[in-house]
Amino acid sequence: MNGISRKSFARWTLAATCLVALAVPAGAATVSDPQLAKVVAHGKALFTQAKFKGNGRVCESCHLGGGLEPGRRPDGQPIPSLANAAAVFPRYKARAGRVFTLADQVRACIGGALEGQVPDEDSGEVTSLVVYLTSLSQGKAIDMGGKPQ
Ligand code: HEC
Repeated sequence: MNGISRKSFARWTLAATCLVALAVPAGAATVSDPQLAKVVAHGKALFTQAKFKGNGRVCESCHLGGGLEPGRRPDGQPIPSLANAAAVFPRYKARAGRVFTLADQVRACIGGALEGQVPDEDSGEVTSLVVYLTSLSQGKAIDMGGKPQ
């Protein structure tokens, strides 16, 4: 290695990695495109506020901490966080007997959990929610059909 010893290079690399880890808080969306970031923000607002004319619940009623924390159902049963949801979808849903995309799951929760009016798959709302959830999984390895965190 030129001028710089292997050992100090290794140390420098470790220090740089730690700095990067500190600069990017866990679970934060690292979206550099401002247009995309706007849709992430819209999706987050829907996640925390939109009731879809349903039973009064919002996504965050069950999926806590913007989806990053472990959630719980109204009966108190725990549910996994959505921290890697976009990395584990599409997945086979035994109950439905078919493969679900992330958009299918979002629409299923709007119709079921929120008892709301389900927007079309290509609606802006479903897109924004999918974009927000995908931002939570940013940087995570795709693991289709894998375990939710
Ligand atoms: C009444 C509670 C409740 C609300 C409100 C709710 N969900 Fe869910 N959600 C669940 C439960 C329970 C599961 C897991 C069971 C399942 O797979 O059906 C789940 C699963 C999910 C998953 C899949 C997680 C994984 O990795 O398998 C996503 C994504 C999701 N919800 C998104 C949403 C969105 C977006 C909203 C708001 C539109 C929402 N949920 C509202 C209860 C809820």
